[in-house]
Amino acid sequence: MKTHKKREQFELCNDEALTRSVGEWEGWLKKLRYEGRAWFEGNLSSVRARFMDFQDKLRSHFQVEESIIFPFFRRHIPRTDAPVDLFSSEHREIMVLMRTVMEIIRTVELSPALLCPGQETVRLSEMGVYLTSYVRHHLAVENAILKKAWGELRSCEKEALRNLVEAKVAKGKAGGVSWKR
Ligand SMILES: [Fe+2]
Repeated sequence: MKTHKKREQFELCNDEALTRSVGEWEGWLKKLRYEGRAWFEGNLSSVRARFMDFQDKLRSHFQVEESIIFPFFRRHIPRTDAPVDLFSSEHREIMVLMRTVMEIIRTVELSPALLCPGQETVRLSEMGVYLTSYVRHHLAVENAILKKAWGELRSCEKEALRNLVEAKVAKGKAGGVSWKR
């Protein structure tokens, strides 16, 4: 019984695909920084590929939350207004960080031979660690706050919210967002 309750709460706002993508990208960042020159260009290519995947998953996360989950909680649990405002501002901050990281990746790609293992690679690694930490913290706090609010919804409201999210995912506008029942 306890396991079932935990599972339902965990699935409310957790995006497993995003969490997995963050971890994979972080792994390639470490390889880029610490493996030798012989692997540098291959690792850089993987860093970009995993970053694009991370960015896609993040956009799906933002889209479902901002178009469905946040408005739903504002309407049904008004006291979530303040945390939802904070989460929305964190989404904007994360997008700024994503753009900064993308610019550093482009810079390293322009002159990989000169920049291995150069200053920009170290900067990319440090900004990447900051970004992944920020995203993980965002997901943890969001999940903790919204799963509590989820517990205050009536059964029919939970069902309505599930249906709205599932419809959004089914339309293909938010691929990668998991919503298990
Ligand atoms: Fe979020």
